[in-house]
Amino acid sequence: MQKVRKAIFPVGGLGTRFLPATKAMPKEMLPVVDKPLIQYAFEEARAAGIEQFIFITGRNKNVLNNHFDHSYELQKLLSEKEKKDLLALTRDWLPEAGQIAFIRQQEALGLGHAVWCARHFIGDEPFAVLLADEMILSPKPFLKEMVEAYGKKKASIVGVAEVAKEKINQYGIIDAEKEQDGLMKIKGMVEKPAPGQAPSNLSIIGRYILEPEIIPYLDKMLHVKSSGGEIQLTDAMAEMVKKKPFYAMKLKGKRYDCGSRKGFLEANIAFALARADMKNDVREMIMEFAAEF
Ligand code: UTP
Repeated sequence: MQKVRKAIFPVGGLGTRFLPATKAMPKEMLPVVDKPLIQYAFEEARAAGIEQFIFITGRNKNVLNNHFDHSYELQKLLSEKEKKDLLALTRDWLPEAGQIAFIRQQEALGLGHAVWCARHFIGDEPFAVLLADEMILSPKPFLKEMVEAYGKKKASIVGVAEVAKEKINQYGIIDAEKEQDGLMKIKGMVEKPAPGQAPSNLSIIGRYILEPEIIPYLDKMLHVKSSGGEIQLTDAMAEMVKKKPFYAMKLKGKRYDCGSRKGFLEANIAFALARADMKNDVREMIMEFAAEF
């Protein structure tokens, strides 16, 4: 059985829900508290044992590449001033040379297309996919749990969470059997179902462990644009579910959809409250706001 060593970070989307912030800046560079979304996702993947990090980028995304590189001027200055803590924040978390690769998705044709763009890097290994704009706060590192479950099941796994009824039509939704040993066997899935057509309220949350067999299914989807006129990863997974065992793992924690304004604000508050150095100040600030409005 192969270890999950590779992770794909699709960051080629246009982020239209977050305009004007995303006009010239990638959505994945938006900071939650003081760190860009993409760095959280990268650190989450590394903590789950991932060794190779593959970013699917597009035009206007060069700032993303730069964030994962040295910043010599800044580092020199901070080192001369002996600002060790700040130096660590710019440098100490960087991947090793050769661990990170960037693939250009020339056209933003959808998440399925973005993952397909990584096919030559994926080869015949299982791999993780992380959507950086979906942030997760959970007692146990969720992707790590998924990677461990893959080790036992040797089958694809998607992360899911319950979603409010009125939001069901914004996400990929699964139809699954009852949970057993922390996993649900998936019977089917559908991207952004019309109201009343959803098989459940369990939405896919931007964390996937996929077997390389997904690639031929994505090949077949290249000419099938579905929800939103995009090539959807969910459509390819829905076809694969018919032939191969596929599981869902329910998140024991909270996810924040940072691609939406409300989700992004929530994430900023939740992540600030989760930090020992900010918790008290933020709590006080919220109390003041609540009393005022
Ligand atoms: P979203 O559905 O959030 O789309 O993509 P988006 O284009 O980024 O944002 P909106 O809906 O216009 O506001 C989910 C993830 O898939 C990536 C995005 O960067 C995001 O991380 N993606 C999407 C790609 O890499 N390529 C695409 O063609 C589309």
